[in-house]
Amino acid sequence: MNDAEELLRAALLKVPAGLAEHVVRVVDEASRLADVHGIDKQAVRIAALGHDLMRALNNERLLGIAADQSYATEDADRMDPILMHGPLAVAVLREQYKVLDADILGAVAYHTTAHAGMTPLQKIIFIADKIEPWKRARNDALDRVAELADTDLDAAMLVYLNMMVEQAVEVGWPLHPNTIAARNELLARKRASSGDRTNAERVDR
Ligand SMILES: [Fe+2]
Ligand SMILES: [Fe+2]
Repeated sequence: MNDAEELLRAALLKVPAGLAEHVVRVVDEASRLADVHGIDKQAVRIAALGHDLMRALNNERLLGIAADQSYATEDADRMDPILMHGPLAVAVLREQYKVLDADILGAVAYHTTAHAGMTPLQKIIFIADKIEPWKRARNDALDRVAELADTDLDAAMLVYLNMMVEQAVEVGWPLHPNTIAARNELLARKRASSGDRTNAERVDR
C-alpha cells in the first residue's frame, strides 16, 4: 500500500458509514474490472478510494469550494452542485494526499458526469461507481451495464449514459455538457466502427 492509499483508507473513517461502505464496494468492483481489463490495480484502488472524498458536503459548501478554487461552473453545476463533488476533490487529492497521477485525478473528476476522452482507468471508476452491488440490487437495468463492462467498457458507458439522459429528462435534471460530450464521442466511435448511417434517416433537418 502506498502513502496515498493508506491516507485515503484512513480518511474513510471520517465520512458517514453508508458512504464509506459504498467506497469500499467501488474499490472491490473497480479492482475486479481492473483485473479483467489489465489496468494497474493500485492506481484503480487510489482512484476508487478518493472518488467520493467530497460526496458528503452540502450544496453550499460545494459552491463555496468552487468559488475558492475559481472553478469554472456550468449552468448544470450551479443548478446541481453535487455534480462538482468529483472535480473539486482533485485539488485536495493533489495537495493533501499527494496524488499527482493525471489518470487517477481525471477518474475522480469525471466519475459523476463522464467526460470526452476518458481513459480505460477512468471508465472503470465511472462504471464501478454505478454498478456496485448495492446500486445494482436497486435497479435491474444496471445488470446490462455490468454485463457489458466485462467485455466492452465503451458499450457499458454508452448504455449507462443513455440511461442518464432518459432519467434527466424524466426527472427534470439538467444535463451536464461533459455528459453530452462523452455520449457524442462514444456514439461517433460506435457509428464509425459499425458503418452506421442512422443520421441519413433523420427527418428533423
Ligand atoms: Fe460520487
Ligand atoms: Fe461514488
